[in-house]
Parts: sequence; C-alpha cells; structure tokens
Amino acid sequence: MINRETIDKIMDTARIEEVVGDFVHLKKRGTSLIGNCPFHGEKTPSFHVSVTKGIYKCFGCGKGGDSVRFIMDHEKYSYPEALKFLANKYNIEVEETELSPQDAEAQSAKESLYVVSQYASAFFVKQLWDTDEGRGIGLSYFKERGFREDILKKFEVGYSPDVWDALTQSATNAGHKLEFLEATGLSIKNDNGKIYDRFRGRVMFPIHNFTGRIIGFGGRTLKTDKNVPKYVNSPESEIYHKSNVLYGLFHAKKAIRDLDNCYLAEGYADVLSVHQAGIENVVASSGTSLTVEQIKLIGRFTQNITILFDGDAAGIKASLRGLDMILEEGLNVKIVSFPDGHDPDSYMHHVGAGAFKTYLEQNRKDFILYKANVLLKDAGNDPIKRAGIIRDIVESIAKIPDQIKASVFIRECSSLLEIDEHILLGELNKMRSAKLKKNFDNNQRANQSANTKPYSSGPPEPLGPPDDLWDDSAGPMGYVQETVEEEEFQEKEIVRLLLAYGHEFVNWDKIDDMYIGPFIMQNLADVEFDDPLCKQIINYYKTEIDNGRLPTSNHFVKHEDRAIADLAITLSTSEHALSENWLNKHLIYVKDESMNLKATILGGIFHLKKRKVEKILMNLLKEIKEEKNEDNQMILMQRYGVIKGVEREISKFLGSVIVK
Ligand code: UTP
Ligand code: MN
Repeated sequence: MINRETIDKIMDTARIEEVVGDFVHLKKRGTSLIGNCPFHGEKTPSFHVSVTKGIYKCFGCGKGGDSVRFIMDHEKYSYPEALKFLANKYNIEVEETELSPQDAEAQSAKESLYVVSQYASAFFVKQLWDTDEGRGIGLSYFKERGFREDILKKFEVGYSPDVWDALTQSATNAGHKLEFLEATGLSIKNDNGKIYDRFRGRVMFPIHNFTGRIIGFGGRTLKTDKNVPKYVNSPESEIYHKSNVLYGLFHAKKAIRDLDNCYLAEGYADVLSVHQAGIENVVASSGTSLTVEQIKLIGRFTQNITILFDGDAAGIKASLRGLDMILEEGLNVKIVSFPDGHDPDSYMHHVGAGAFKTYLEQNRKDFILYKANVLLKDAGNDPIKRAGIIRDIVESIAKIPDQIKASVFIRECSSLLEIDEHILLGELNKMRSAKLKKNFDNNQRANQSANTKPYSSGPPEPLGPPDDLWDDSAGPMGYVQETVEEEEFQEKEIVRLLLAYGHEFVNWDKIDDMYIGPFIMQNLADVEFDDPLCKQIINYYKTEIDNGRLPTSNHFVKHEDRAIADLAITLSTSEHALSENWLNKHLIYVKDESMNLKATILGGIFHLKKRKVEKILMNLLKEIKEEKNEDNQMILMQRYGVIKGVEREISKFLGSVIVK
C-alpha cells in the first residue's frame, strides 16, 4: 500500500488543471476552465474545472471529483494505480508498505505487460545504437532516409536483430516471464512448442498510449523482397487496443492542444518526418482506416483535424468517404494533399523542413470544398455525374451536427457547384429527415428488445428524435427521479433568491432601474412552478408585484400558513446550508454569492428554465414513443428538435454566466 505521507504529497502537488489538461482541451471561461467532457460524447462543453477547489464536474453526465478520481475514471485505473500515475507525472517517489499477495498479483498482471513492453523497447533501442548489426543495418537505413538522431531518439525507434529469439532470450534472462512476452505478442510459440521472436531484422517503432507507456510495436522490414510483409505489428493485447490508439499522440498532444489542430498522417515515417520539420501536432492512424474511437481521442484535444493525404488521386478519392465519419463527430476537417504522388514523409525530405511547413500552411483546404472540387474535376461536363456529386456532397454536409456550419457549407457549395442554394437545402432536408426516421426506427427497435421493464419502473432509455438524441450528451433526460428532485430544488432556490435579494437593486449592464424581485418574476413569467408551496409563494409574490408592491421576506416568514412560514424560514435562515447544497449539486462556488449577484440570480433563473425544458423534452420523448401515426411522430420529432435547440441555448448561456 502507498503510505499516507506519499498520498498527501501527491494530493498537494497535483493540480487539477494540469491533470485534466493532459486529456481535455480546456478553455478559460471567466475564472473557471471548461471543455468537452471526456466521459460522454458531447459537442458543446459542459465539463467544468475549478482550479481553486481542485475539482472537475460535468454538467452533462454528472461525473466529478478530484485529480485522483479523474485519473481513475479516465484511465480506468484503480486508486493506487491512479496515485502512482500522478506520482510519476510529478516525479514524486512512492513509498509503499507491503502489499497483500492477492493485491500484488492482480496489480502486477496488467502491469507486467507494460513492463515487458518497456523492456523490449529498451532492448531494441540498445540494439540500434550499440550493436554493429543495429548501426550497420538499422541506423544507417534511417540516416539514409534523412532522419535526424534527435528524432530517432525522441520516438525511441530501435532495431530487432535478425535472430530467432534474441529478445526472448534477453528478456527471460533478465527475469521476465515468458507468459507476459507471449501475452504482448513479442514472443510466439510455434506448434512444436518452440519459442521465437515476432520481430526479427526490422527497424522498430514503439507505440505509446497517450499517457506515454509503451503498449505495442510496428516493425518495418529492410528487405526489398516482396514476399516479406513490409510491417509486422504487435497483436491486440490487454494493453494494446488498436482501434483506440493513434501513433504519436503521446508526443503530439501538447502541441495539438496548443495549436488547436491535429495533423493526421498514415504512417510511422510520416509522423517522424513531420516532427522533424518542427511540426509536432501530428499523429498517424497506422495504415488502418480511422475509427470513431480514434476520432474521439483527437476530439479530446482539438476540434480541428487536418488530413495529410498520401498518394495518388484515385487513392484520395477512395478515402474521401471515410472522412464523413469525422464530420459526424462534429469535428472540422481540412485536407492537404501533396504533388506528384508524394506522401508527407517523402515530400518533407524532398523540399526540406522550411518549405514543407509553408506548404502545409498554404495548402490546407476545407474537406467539403476539397471533395467537391475533386469530384467536379472528375465529372467534367457530364450532367449525370454532376448530379451524383451533388448528392454526394450534400450527404457529407448532412453529417455535420452543427446546423449553422452546415448552412455555410451549403452556401459555399452552391456557388462552387453553380446550383441554387434552395435546391441544395431541399436535398439536405430530405436527407436529414430520412436519417431522422431511420435512426428513430432503429432506436425504437433497440428499445423494444432491450427494454423488458415497463416504462415507469426505471429511467427511460434515451431513444428517439432529431440529430443529437443519438448523441449521448442528451444525458440528463434519462433520470426521471433526479429531474424531479432537481426541479424542486431549483424552484426552492428561486424562492430563496426572492426572499434574500428581492429588494436589492439590479444594476448590471443593460438592465437597470429594477429590483431583483420583479426582475426574477419577469424572467420566469412563462414558467409554471410545480411544488405546491413554491407555487403559492410565487403566485402571491406575483400578485403583489402586479399591484405595485414588493413583498418582504418577513411577510412569508410570518405567514399564517404554517407550511409557507416554515419553508420561508428554512430558506432564509439556512442560506448557507442551501448554498452548500447548491455547491454539492452543481459545484458552483458562490464564495460570497452577493459578490456575484448577477451570476447567482441568472444562474437560479436559467437552471430552473433548463429543468423545465428538460421535462418538456422528456414528456415529448414519451409521446413520440407512444405515437403510432408516422406523420404525427414526425411532427413531434421536429418539435423535439426545436425545444432541444432551446435547451442548448440555455446551457450555452449558463456556461457563460456562471462565474466561480
Ligand atoms: P506506408 O506503407 O505508407 O508505411 O503505410 P510508412 O510508415 O510510410 O513506411 P515507409 O515510408 O515506406 O517506410 C502506412 C502505415 O500502414 C501500416 C503501418 O502502420 C504504416 O506506417 N502498415 C503498412 C502496416 O501495418 N503493414 C504493412 O504491411 C504496411
Ligand atoms: Mn511512407
């Protein structure tokens, strides 16, 4: 076990914004930091980090905690693993008391795979630099291709000797168990029980996960023999899941965040070369087609991807379709292609670092427009082909979740394709409603088979309508109970604010000459209160204001109705307790809420509005689910879309107004 002093030291040193910042692109918003939540897919940020409190909280999915909690949740680490991760990040020496044998074993199983991979990497590096074979074959190969030593060292490239079991021998001699060498695929047992190395006579590229641990390898042959596979790669293992790894991300993530863009290339060599040109925000998909997980991974650091296209026009055309997936994730996609069949690697060495950098900057094209251009060139004047292009392009645009962005593309493409904007828009809407319908049906089906429980017995499955219902950021709707509680809480908060501040004067920019009481009432004119006591208080307050009087808290505190008086007393005397509750629930730190009355009041008003809108959405969902008539269903779905938009606006507003 890690001892108390070490834990304290880690807790004192770890800074939440740095710990979270390694994984989430954080932006300053007032005095707090916000970003897209790494725990649920979202396109508008609801993930808040409070530097002063040392904690994070997502308003979308509700996850929250301190630095250790974050690492545990994010990396799926146990508590001690997370502590060790932080200790390592901050160079803190971990002092441990003895582990129980079971703990030691459980912990060491996965850990051993990392350890043996690290061992192998060091072995390959040593072979490359310190042996005749390594230098003569491996290193000279890299040198010939124009790679600098510092780049080779930074990426820890190595060389595997052309011997059957060099690594296996070395590792087992050093005390590593064969079991783990096999589990990582570094060693292979053949049918006769003979053990040999997977990688032999190849230059080695270690693959890091994005926290920097080595999880696998790619080994490139140096032979020209066409029968030898160019690359041999580590197999999937408990620590290496190819679909959610991007080569180079560990070295690139800081630059990606800082520059707010990620270059995406295909191969290991490309990543090294682009780095060598001084461009560090580059990763590679390692030859396989890009996965949604990989896109999400990039999305944690930036919303902008620039694809560095490899190869000829035919190849580019073939891969264009795959990129719609990135649009679907809400990211912006740009494209750079290279002349004369060059790839990023060959072009960098061809023109040199400086010219390469300039080339990237000057040849970035927006994906949709690039695609339209490529296809147009291909179609020439053939009207049928041109019609096909329109469909194709609009299909891509339909994938963009942000409607405003989509309409900008429609406009640009309309001039590029010389087609009336309305025709394109019509096409876009057709595709959207087809998609809407399809998704809804799929969801419906999934729900019917998955949901054996009656509707009322548990949270409804998120099902349904427009666009982002399939985006899990629609989260809070799932929790009926919580919504009811939240709603009651928000209503009471409004009453509390009225009692505490109703008589103060509003003097915020643009709004003045008004007391807070009427200001709140005016803003909530369209909101129905559900809690009977709150409703009674609010109605009375409203009547008084309508009659030109401003009720005092005294009136309610001394109310003849015992229940009203009790509530008023609780709310006006336990101001602090409620604030604390508010704090626990929302992690909104009103150090002295009267200091930031504007945020407090607007926060109160709009949180309540948000709850009410969420409730409407929830009821709509139920209606949609129960509606049998397709036309009616479509109308409901459209209504859902509009109200969802309102909810999004409220969230956006809240994000900008809540100051910690
Ligand atoms: P490339 O053939 O472009 O490789 O494949 P490269 O890394 O640029 O290598 P050089 O420039 O010829 O030295 C791109 C990526 O596809 C994967 C590798 O990850 C490679 O980096 N790949 C390619 C394989 O996994 N296996 C293969 O046989 C070939
Ligand atoms: Mn290449």
